[in-house]
Amino acid sequence: MIKNTSYGYGALAILFHWAMALLIVGMLALGLYMSGLPQTDPQTFALFQLHKSIGFVVLLFAVLRLLWRAVNPSPKLPSHMPVWEKGIAHLGHTGLYAMMFLLPLSGWLMVSASPWGIPTIVFNLFEMPHLPVPGFLGDKASAEAILKLVHEYGAYFLIALIIGHVAAAMKHHFISRDETLRRMISVRMQRTD
Ligand code: HEM
Ligand code: HEM
Repeated sequence: MIKNTSYGYGALAILFHWAMALLIVGMLALGLYMSGLPQTDPQTFALFQLHKSIGFVVLLFAVLRLLWRAVNPSPKLPSHMPVWEKGIAHLGHTGLYAMMFLLPLSGWLMVSASPWGIPTIVFNLFEMPHLPVPGFLGDKASAEAILKLVHEYGAYFLIALIIGHVAAAMKHHFISRDETLRRMISVRMQRTD
């Protein structure tokens, strides 16, 4: 029930998937909203701190989720899928996992490089230390500008991946009519083909 089998997801993988899906979609919306606010707005500072705090939760969950994935069998894709389609599905999932790390890490590096040196207070509880920024990115201001571009375009790429991912889930459910979506919702749903 807790662990995956070769045919279906266990409770923990399902919980990780939907908790992180909510957090990541929420973070994309919050990031786009807050970066359009005037810097002088008092709400802006609080929203930036919230964005950074939730970003660290996503990073922690991403590490735990990959560790959990490593000690579990991964459910097989439907046997009716052609090899190229399975390849695209694996590539898409790998991309989603990569972005779960790239987004928080580029954000963390970006605020670390900022010449303003604004501290990150995680959920108003403790200060997250800044990371050492690699010297090849140049001085602080140019490193911050590069990392901001990585964070911003990384977010656009993640949005594209999520749209493709959700479209694939819908195609499985409504066109192929297989268990792909149902087995990411219920532990009782195991692949039969
Ligand atoms: C799941 C993780 C994250 C997602 C999906 C995410 C997404 C976004 C998005 C979509 C934007 C708006 C980009 C733009 O239009 O310029 C943004 C901005 C920002 N993010 Fe993140 N972010 C994540 C994690 C983090 C973390 C961990 C930090 C810092 C510790 C961070 C710091 C920032 C900052 C400071 C901005 C504003 C940049 C600016 O406009 O100056 N983010 N983020
Ligand atoms: C909100 C709409 C979403 C739906 C309907 C959905 C649906 C699914 C389904 C059905 C699977 C199982 C695929 C299989 O059986 O092989 C899956 C897997 C996965 N999803 Fe989503 N998903 C959604 C959002 C997201 C988001 C926002 C992310 C992350 C950014 C994400 C990341 C993943 C990853 C990494 C896997 C692979 C899990 C593994 O086998 O290790 N999903 N999703």
